[in-house]
Amino acid sequence: MSLVTWQKIDVAAKDPYPVFLGASLEELGEYLHRHYRDIEHILVVSNPVIADIYWERLKQGLMNYRLNLLIVPAGENEKSLDRLSQLTTEALRCGADRKTLVIALGGGVIGDLTGFFASIFMRGVRFIQVPTTLLAQVDSSIGGKVAVNHPAGKNILGAFYPPLAVWTDFSTLETLEWDEVENGLAESIKHAIISDLALFEFFENEQQRIKQRDKTIWREMVTRSSAVKVKIVSEDEHEQGIRGLLNLGHSFGHALETQMNYSGITHGQGVSIGIVAAAHLAHAKGLMSRAEVERARRLLEVFGLPTTIKEQNPQTLLQHMQADKKNQGGRKILILPKGIGQAIVSRECTDQEILSAWQQVIA
Ligand SMILES: NC(=O)c1ccc[n+]([C@@H]2O[C@H](COP(=O)([O-])OP(=O)(O)OC[C@H]3O[C@@H](n4cnc5c(N)ncnc54)[C@H](O)[C@@H]3O)[C@@H](O)[C@H]2O)c1
Repeated sequence: MSLVTWQKIDVAAKDPYPVFLGASLEELGEYLHRHYRDIEHILVVSNPVIADIYWERLKQGLMNYRLNLLIVPAGENEKSLDRLSQLTTEALRCGADRKTLVIALGGGVIGDLTGFFASIFMRGVRFIQVPTTLLAQVDSSIGGKVAVNHPAGKNILGAFYPPLAVWTDFSTLETLEWDEVENGLAESIKHAIISDLALFEFFENEQQRIKQRDKTIWREMVTRSSAVKVKIVSEDEHEQGIRGLLNLGHSFGHALETQMNYSGITHGQGVSIGIVAAAHLAHAKGLMSRAEVERARRLLEVFGLPTTIKEQNPQTLLQHMQADKKNQGGRKILILPKGIGQAIVSRECTDQEILSAWQQVIA
């Protein structure tokens, strides 16, 4: 099945918004002109790497606006209160006011930071997500979660603040390093495992063309994976229920990232190992056959994602999981796959079962 080149999916939030898949950077200005006649001033936030490659293209369509580009350095550290404060100073210097539109041009870091800035600047100004990483296109730009980090933890200060629109130009992925592709693939495969068996089969069948970065196949991969995220956040905007399934692999993954001090392991690698650990746990609970666990493991490995980790102490990792934000009343809340294409929230995993799952992924 091949999809048309341009597609719009609506997120059915309290304030619904469209996700434009296959739009082009140059055309954003025309869309804004048609739909938001009152916009005069636009602030684009990006980082030096992305702006260097894509600013000229985006700017082409925005020539009729008073336009400012704010550059923040690359990296997770920039999701900080200090950076928010600096953005505020710069925005005021540029004459931003309550009618200013803010555009996030970048990956999840720029999207989260800029979205949170937009949510609090002058008590909230409009913003648009223009995601440029695979992870941002299939995951972080959709769903309205925006945040910065705090020394006490990741994404501690944040909000649900939906964008006016998500403007996804697939061509921006052509310049992405493979490590960053892997981060997005881990989340896309997670989407398939929790709710879309056909998407999982697509990954299995098209693995070669995905690795070769075949443009048609990537288009389809991003579109179908984004559709999973849209469907889930439309049903549960504020994560009261089903949206929690998107955390598959993350409780295990975060424990690894914390233990390794966020170095030597990427988020996608942590999620990948975490998915396999959760699959082993699901198997122990009779939710998944051995063959299904192997199938999930194989698919992650095909794309170079790790499914085991060396020299870790399961007890220490278990301790990190005690601090998981998702736990309730001392109980660990874990997402477990149910076969492939479904998942459940489990409040019934014992420490012994979790330790056994860790042992399965420690080489
Ligand atoms: N809000 C949410 O729902 C949500 C969901 C998942 C993750 N996140 C957040 O997303 C962040 C991770 O996002 P990410 O993986 O996109 O990382 P990122 O934003 O740090 O981008 C990764 C790297 O890719 C570079 N880059 C971006 N686009 C590029 C392009 N088109 N070509 C070449 N290089 C490019 C960036 O400069 C950066 O160095 C984390 O902070 C995480 O907490 C948020």
